[in-house]
Amino acid sequence: MKHNIIVIGFMGVGKGTLARSFAKEYGVYNIDTDDLIESKENRKISKIFEKFGEDYFRALEQDTADWLEKSVKGTLISCGGGFYKVNNLKKIGKVVLLDASFDWIYNRLKNSANAEAKFAKRPLFQDLKKAKALYKERSKQYKKVAHYVVNVEELGEKKAIKEIAKLCKVKS
Ligand code: S3P
Repeated sequence: MKHNIIVIGFMGVGKGTLARSFAKEYGVYNIDTDDLIESKENRKISKIFEKFGEDYFRALEQDTADWLEKSVKGTLISCGGGFYKVNNLKKIGKVVLLDASFDWIYNRLKNSANAEAKFAKRPLFQDLKKAKALYKERSKQYKKVAHYVVNVEELGEKKAIKEIAKLCKVKS
């Protein structure tokens, strides 16, 4: 894979899970922007929000984007739900929006094995009404910055992976 593929989308849509399956199937490496930030700061995302606030976290996302643009090639990059706001997103690689309805996302998280932890680690998914408003606000913006939109709710994970590979011309 020559270019990077960047998977964006709302919290809990399954970017990380899909990216790991994709990486295994197509023999590429997957890195995750939240993991990069946590390792650089040596703190969990929830702690970074708690201690330094959201603006500080957003600045870390921009630093990460700058580093990715300069230093990373041929990699599948899964992103935090707000990473799409960095100012060089399309310079990093092909941007794929993993799309689904808010209800599907909420049920996916709620019905997962460790649902409580999945909500707890996401500071912006603590309040259902606020999360829904954020989803509404971001839906159009995600589509604006994406090269491709793949609907995982309609396709399911397996077909979504195949579709991404096809769109981004990744051969198995
Ligand atoms: C955020 C999404 C989170 C994480 C942080 C902020 C957002 O990542 O980056 O809590 O602004 O949507 P996930 O999309 O993996 O939950």
